[in-house]
Amino acid sequence: MNDLATPPKMSREQLLAQIAQLERRIAREAAARRKAEDLLEARSFDLHNANQSLRAINGDLERIVAERTRELRAAHDEALAASRAKSQFLAGMSHELRTPLNAIIGFSEVMQLELQGPIGNAAYRDYAVIIHESGQHLLGIINDILDVAKIEAGRMELHEEVVDVAEVVADSVRLLSDRASRAGIKIKTTLPSGLPRLMADRGKIRQVLLNLLGNSIKFTGKDGTITVSARVSSVGKFLLTVADTGVGIPEDALESVMEAFVQCGDALTRSHHGSGLGLPLCKALTEMHCGCLTLESEVGKGTCVTISLPPQRVLDPAPAA
Ligand SMILES: Nc1ncnc2c1ncn2[C@@H]1O[C@H](COP(=O)(O)OP(=O)(O)OP(=O)(O)O)[C@@H](O)[C@H]1O
Ligand SMILES: [Mg+2]
Repeated sequence: MNDLATPPKMSREQLLAQIAQLERRIAREAAARRKAEDLLEARSFDLHNANQSLRAINGDLERIVAERTRELRAAHDEALAASRAKSQFLAGMSHELRTPLNAIIGFSEVMQLELQGPIGNAAYRDYAVIIHESGQHLLGIINDILDVAKIEAGRMELHEEVVDVAEVVADSVRLLSDRASRAGIKIKTTLPSGLPRLMADRGKIRQVLLNLLGNSIKFTGKDGTITVSARVSSVGKFLLTVADTGVGIPEDALESVMEAFVQCGDALTRSHHGSGLGLPLCKALTEMHCGCLTLESEVGKGTCVTISLPPQRVLDPAPAA
């Protein structure tokens, strides 16, 4: 009991030895602390320097970013102005070209029909037919250019109304059925009964459909088939599809053909007329309806273009006649 309560007595020598040991330990720790303080000072000096350099780099970066932003903004403004000037030029030119072209088309038709009396020479009559057809072809291109310019300038407007797509499909197919049968192509339509009507611009939907059908007729050989179908998807989107069994589009060209003036193949090997405006126009007109156009194709198998319009445009089914 007594042993636990009172520590064993130490001799003087032992005490002195312990004190000496403690002093050595304190001296060692003091040296270590000094060393740590020196190291800390050196590190904070390095940190301070690094901080200064970072601040300088940051300042440089901010200046460079501000400079680049200024340059980009200027380039963007320039590009916008150039695009606006191009659109205005195209719109002006197209308008100027249309006036004489209408005279060429009108008068060649009068000559072709010999409304003012007989032409007298069969070759001249054939020339009148060719002038009339060429004039109409040129007018089509000019109208497309004008439309692209209008869309780019943000001046194209939607004239929305209730549209019965079945009617528009029937009308467009009727219009192109002659051309298709002359090319040995069959056009099929598969529209479910009770297909809902759309809130859309009828003229523009028709323009898209005529362009897509025109492409399918151009790029599908004899004995080919074109199928026009429409349905409402499971999420309520309206899908209008034109599919053909034609030559198809190479995978690496699927994106570029959506750009204005781009066509597959080169001008020398291409056997079809066109200026490469149809698809970009269809895409732009669809996007004006807040929809999207998708292109799927396989070379040698065919092409399938789908116009997808948002559920907000889908109305109740057309009332039974
Ligand atoms: N159904 C299709 N089958 C195969 N190729 C197609 C089809 N539709 C478009 N293409 C390819 O995409 C290109 C671009 O089509 P787009 O309709 O924009 O122009 P285009 O028909 O050549 O000329 P435009 O429509 O101005 O008369 C076409 O030249 C053709 O190479
Ligand atoms: Mg086309």
